[in-house]
Amino acid sequence: MINLFEQYKVQVILGMQWGDEGKGKIVDLLGQQCDMVIRFQGGANAGHTVEFDDKKYILHLIPSGILRPHLTCVIGNGVVIDPESMLEEIDSLESQGYEVINRLFISRFAHLILPYHKMLDKAREILKANHKIGTTGRGIGPAYADKSAREGIRVCDIIDSEWEPHIRSMVEQKNQLLAQYECKSIQAARILDLVKQFREKIIPTVTDTRQLVYRARKAEKRMLLEGAQGTLLDIDFGTYPYVTSSNTTIGGVFTGLGLGPRSIDRVNGVLKAYTTRVGNGPFPTELTDKIGDRIRENGDEYGATTGRPRRCGWFDAVIAKYAVQINDIDAIVLTKLDVLDDFESVHICTGYRYRGEEMNEFISDCSILDEVEPVYEILPGWRTKTSDIHAYQDLPENAKQYIERLEVLCGVPIQIVSLGPSRDATLWKT
Ligand code: GDP
Ligand code: IMO
Ligand code: MG
Repeated sequence: MINLFEQYKVQVILGMQWGDEGKGKIVDLLGQQCDMVIRFQGGANAGHTVEFDDKKYILHLIPSGILRPHLTCVIGNGVVIDPESMLEEIDSLESQGYEVINRLFISRFAHLILPYHKMLDKAREILKANHKIGTTGRGIGPAYADKSAREGIRVCDIIDSEWEPHIRSMVEQKNQLLAQYECKSIQAARILDLVKQFREKIIPTVTDTRQLVYRARKAEKRMLLEGAQGTLLDIDFGTYPYVTSSNTTIGGVFTGLGLGPRSIDRVNGVLKAYTTRVGNGPFPTELTDKIGDRIRENGDEYGATTGRPRRCGWFDAVIAKYAVQINDIDAIVLTKLDVLDDFESVHICTGYRYRGEEMNEFISDCSILDEVEPVYEILPGWRTKTSDIHAYQDLPENAKQYIERLEVLCGVPIQIVSLGPSRDATLWKT
């Protein structure tokens, strides 16, 4: 295994498609080489899977680094924290023998997701009828909306002694809104209880994470910044309005942590060897036929947060190139190549046909994307089991040809290839 952190002290892991690229596995893998793992955006809408020693863990809010006991974990100001979800996650980790509180730092300035945010998220989806986003129902949109409206409740607001009246008045205001959606009102006492419990648990972890991360940078600590979701779910660059409510691309690092752009030494993009999406919105290479079903079954493509079947399709190089450009990707981690092991041929989308013209650049305009037809290049499959292969040169020739073609189309080296969910099903290309 190459030690990437000897040269690059601060690295980012970002999803390059619509999420679920396998970021959790890669964060866990590279976590072996660093000192800190840091989340900077999103919330419990994320579901990051890590598998080792025949055990499977799904992390939603706590950085995936928590499963490596030597790592310090940080949740930056850009994350939206659901106390219910976080308490559950901490309990579950502690009950499995993981120390959490002594290794976790939470930003004073992160915003909270309270039960009314989740109720509003679901109510708004119901009202959207045929135009549902297909959210995770975790209250992400309403919580970021409150943050932008300057009405959010931050971690520091519940640490101060006078926190109860603030929450009570917010619950009153949200109950009026819930009534407009014909939803039941929520009891302030229930929220106060939840916040009390949360507060007691996390008070020792609360700090100004900006300072913590800045000092760690100065002390040359090795840091891995764990992105959630993927480039195409970004609020600005994704397939709006079918996106999440945070910047999932590189910009989210700077606003979500307070680190400067020159502090980032390397950006690693994670790409699945095909494409998936959960929730609604355009998906040019989607396969609604038996091939799509076969990818879903081979890849066990069911949401880690909601259990929903993921929509599946061929690899889309137009999207991958777009993600390379936005995020300044230095190297790619290609995951789930093994899922394509039994296909006779593999297709790569190299462009779109739109109203008779070929397009090679992605444009995040749903009205255009709904109409485009993918243009495919077809390569022969390898029809060989790859999950037990440990050296790049031992991969079947057709698998190498596929990887190297993706590399050329993306214009960035593929450095790591993942061939299974576990830590050891991974190989280094360079
Ligand atoms: P994340 O949200 O990007 O962390 O990805 P998820 O955890 O939601 O989804 C990725 C799924 O693929 C998880 O079930 C992983 O255990 C699994 N996985 C990761 N890498 C590989 C791989 O190379 N091959 C296979 N077959 N599964 C993988
Ligand atoms: P990870 O980090 C895949 C999708 C939802 C929906 C849209 C908006 O595991 O890759 P939200 O609840 O955020 O308002 O939903 O975004 N979505 C994800 N899809 N992986 C994720 O995270 C996702 N987080 C949100 O399905 O389409
Ligand atoms: Mg996921």
